[in-house]
Amino acid sequence: MNWRKLRTFLLTLLVLSLIPATRYYQIDVPLVGFLRGSQIDPLTLHLAGEFVESNLGTEQDADGSVTVRMIAEQYLFIPHCIVVPAGVPVHLRVTSADAVHSLAINGTNYKVEVLPGSIAEAQLQFPQPGEYAMPCREFCGAGHYAMRSRLQVVARDQFPVLRAGERGNCAPQ
Ligand code: CUA
Repeated sequence: MNWRKLRTFLLTLLVLSLIPATRYYQIDVPLVGFLRGSQIDPLTLHLAGEFVESNLGTEQDADGSVTVRMIAEQYLFIPHCIVVPAGVPVHLRVTSADAVHSLAINGTNYKVEVLPGSIAEAQLQFPQPGEYAMPCREFCGAGHYAMRSRLQVVARDQFPVLRAGERGNCAPQ
């Protein structure tokens, strides 16, 4: 091997090693999917199944509790404003369309790690009405620090009555 070939080889190696250095927050994605067994395909979740757009937001359950479904993706949460009633169990279901994110609710201990390929679940309950910021707490790329949603907890009798199949949120339509 002559020096020129060696130099080309080393430069190529250097350039290739820069790719994971700038995208390292996505490297664990295929690995996580492999280890946990994929429950949901991040590439098609917008198109069919539980996380289609019309199924996102707050759903009224028959027993008075609510279920909230959200998608985390670079660099936003959908919907970007969630409304839930105070004093009832809130079942949170979130999945990611791309990298690993973490949905935190400021001022509470609630924090959910959101991985592509699986559904993160949490049981929440808020005794009082209030408003909370929900920022992403896992570095997920250039827009990470702007990635946030909002949670509005309203008094139970102020929570809009949702008809069967209807989903609520407080994001401007
Ligand atoms: Cu999403 Cu940080």
